[in-house]
Amino acid sequence: MIDLVIRFSPQTPADAPQIEKLEERAFGPGRYARTAYRLREGVEPDRSLSFVARVGTLLVGANRMTPILIGPTQALLLGPLTVEPAFRSQRVGETLVKYSLDAAREAGHGLVLLVGDEDYYARLGFTRVPRDKITMPGPVDPDRLLYCELREGAFAAANGKMRRL
Ligand SMILES: CC(C)(COP(=O)(O)OP(=O)(O)OC[C@H]1O[C@@H](n2cnc3c(N)ncnc32)[C@H](O)[C@@H]1OP(=O)(O)O)[C@@H](O)C(=O)NCCC(=O)NCCS
Repeated sequence: MIDLVIRFSPQTPADAPQIEKLEERAFGPGRYARTAYRLREGVEPDRSLSFVARVGTLLVGANRMTPILIGPTQALLLGPLTVEPAFRSQRVGETLVKYSLDAAREAGHGLVLLVGDEDYYARLGFTRVPRDKITMPGPVDPDRLLYCELREGAFAAANGKMRRL
């Protein structure tokens, strides 16, 4: 059996085409219609907080962190988180999220939001946002709007509509 080494590193602009292909395979063209996409459209991710996973030169996973506003408060939107099907269930997704959260905390960010399955993200420190505290600029299942507080008090201070930075 061959052990493949998976390496994690911050994203660079040169990763964009491979990430795009991975997301196309995972989510299809419908990804552009998602409400979370509207918040990312035209906004550069913070690449120092966004990571890729590689086996050799092959990109096998990626996660993005995009600065957003909630009312007047700055926060980060995590996602999309995508792992190549052949490399799933090896903690690549979990590790990508952990790297992003650690880097964000270290950079002084207080709050991260995402739209996703609580069943997956709860183990990484995410909790459901109470209904109507924070709204998105389009339809989203409120049970899937999750947050992770990196600095005490950051979540209490965030109220209102999520907007593009
Ligand atoms: C979700 C995803 C990123 C997980 O990547 P991964 O590297 O396999 O994740 P991990 O290895 O850290 O965790 C895998 C475990 O989470 C479970 N899991 C995966 N998706 C889940 C979900 N939506 N809800 C609950 N559990 C989930 C898996 O069954 C697996 O369980 P196991 O360890 O018992 O086998 C990957 O499945 C993926 O790219 N999916 C398609 C894109 C997507 O849905 N992204 C998330 C939305 S932003």
